[in-house]
Amino acid sequence: MAKIAVGADHGGYELKAFLMERLIQEGYEVIDCGVHAAESADYPDIAAETCKHVLSGNAQFGLVMCGTGIGISISANKIRGIRAALCADTYSARMAREHNDANVLALGGRTVGPELAWDIVQSYLGHTFTGGRHARRVAKIMELEEKGS
Ligand code: RB5
Repeated sequence: MAKIAVGADHGGYELKAFLMERLIQEGYEVIDCGVHAAESADYPDIAAETCKHVLSGNAQFGLVMCGTGIGISISANKIRGIRAALCADTYSARMAREHNDANVLALGGRTVGPELAWDIVQSYLGHTFTGGRHARRVAKIMELEEKGS
């Protein structure tokens, strides 16, 4: 079973707790990157802490949450090597894996209900990168990261 690094600011704290419980029930190993209570936190700090585990190989995937998922996904995507996908539906979550090889899934704790969020997480984790022409495109994404434009 994959190991997942999970992090949220105060806007995603409740959803994080819910999803961590589900992931553990399903047999996933989870690294809790905070916040550890409903305390105010800055989402770039949580993105950095969570993505660090993905980049080191300590976790296979990252799951990050803030109120909308926007701030934490923007933050994660600033980190070299991270491809974070903000998803609010299961089809996008599947495509994030199959086409974009996203190594981080972002969710909005205030925009997506817990059961839908769980379906999104399962869709993301249940699919794999299809490669082929998508590998070329993902390689170009990473080139943009190197070149800056
Ligand atoms: C925090 O109030 C909120 O701004 C944050 O959780 C997130 O939604 C930002 O994108």
